[in-house]
Amino acid sequence: MPGKILVTGAAGFIGSHLCERLVKEGYDVVGVDSLTDYYDVRIKRENLRELKGNEKFTYYEHSLNDMDLGSLIGEVDVIFHQAAQAGVRASWGNRFEEYIDSNIRATQRLCEAAKNHPIRRFVFASSSSVYGETTNLPMGETQLPKPVSPYGVTKLASENLCLLYKKNYNLPAVCLRYFTVYGPRQRPDMAFHKFILRAMKGKPVEIYGNGTQTRDFTYIDDVIEANMSAMAYNGSESVFNIGGGSRVSLNSALDILHDCCNLELDVRYKDAFKGDVKHTYADIALAQRELNYKPKVKLDQGLAYEVEWVGRLIRKLGDS
Ligand code: NAD
Ligand code: UGA
Repeated sequence: MPGKILVTGAAGFIGSHLCERLVKEGYDVVGVDSLTDYYDVRIKRENLRELKGNEKFTYYEHSLNDMDLGSLIGEVDVIFHQAAQAGVRASWGNRFEEYIDSNIRATQRLCEAAKNHPIRRFVFASSSSVYGETTNLPMGETQLPKPVSPYGVTKLASENLCLLYKKNYNLPAVCLRYFTVYGPRQRPDMAFHKFILRAMKGKPVEIYGNGTQTRDFTYIDDVIEANMSAMAYNGSESVFNIGGGSRVSLNSALDILHDCCNLELDVRYKDAFKGDVKHTYADIALAQRELNYKPKVKLDQGLAYEVEWVGRLIRKLGDS
């Protein structure tokens, strides 16, 4: 069993689930998060609520951009770097500064601080957004990445930084390219959270484009399982797709929300957003072979869990 584990972005959607899994397995976890205001920080505090009562969890509310990372990293031997300014559509315009700071600069600072320490594993949360628009489906890890959003550009830059430090300083980096993650605690800017919340409040849901775009939706527990395998991984591969195992159109996902989750949806079709790719679909053969990765949760089941959670969130936070 390793010593302490650092999880950056610990108050976020994926980071908080990961911290909970790690403490449950008996690891000592140090969580860092600056609680950015990209979305309601009450949700992030709620994500942390149970963790904060756990003696195996230490929490620092700081930005990776200005904290002393050397002394923080000195006491850990595994790093899960989940912190980022996420979100594809918000990455145009003035907000790009935040993407540079939280994605590129923060990752460079973390790699620079980690290179001098005997870290056993450095897992980076990469993204399907590095691929960009492609007709070559499913997307394989060796495909030339050509992001089409400013966010995707910063995730690709961050991934490349991790790989540069691996090559030059033996940083034991593994990059997991997650494909549209969903489930309880999903960020409120993401499609399913928005659709469920708005349906429960009797408000219309907006579809960007005609709904024929497809996503390889990946349930949160499967993503956490992939992270656990990446921590234990001893092989030489560096980049893995982590997808849900199937490709579904947004219109079909709306049908599931209606038919399986009993949500009445008032759907309005709007213009597509620049930077949103039309299709994603992960080739997960490499993750299957090297990480023994096998997504388990099907979309109808995963959406039912998310619906349940959004209901609880509304009761807790009121008009969030
Ligand atoms: P999230 O916004 O819920 O979590 C990210 C957390 O990082 C936030 O709580 C934020 O406050 C924190 N953070 C941002 N900048 C920071 C900084 N400079 N210092 C310290 N903390 C900082 O997002 P998420 O959906 O949980 O995503 C987690 C990671 O997974 C991100 O790296 C994201 O790019 C990646 N990813 C997410 C998805 C998805 O579908 N959710 C898909 C692909 C990749
Ligand atoms: C998601 C995450 O938000 C990114 O952080 C992540 O990097 C990316 O997955 C990834 O796979 O790498 P996205 O696929 O845009 O990005 O996820 P959603 O926000 O859930 O959107 C899914 C689809 O629904 C997109 O086509 C989007 O245009 C559409 N959508 C979203 C709507 O039609 N209406 C909405 O209100 C929101």
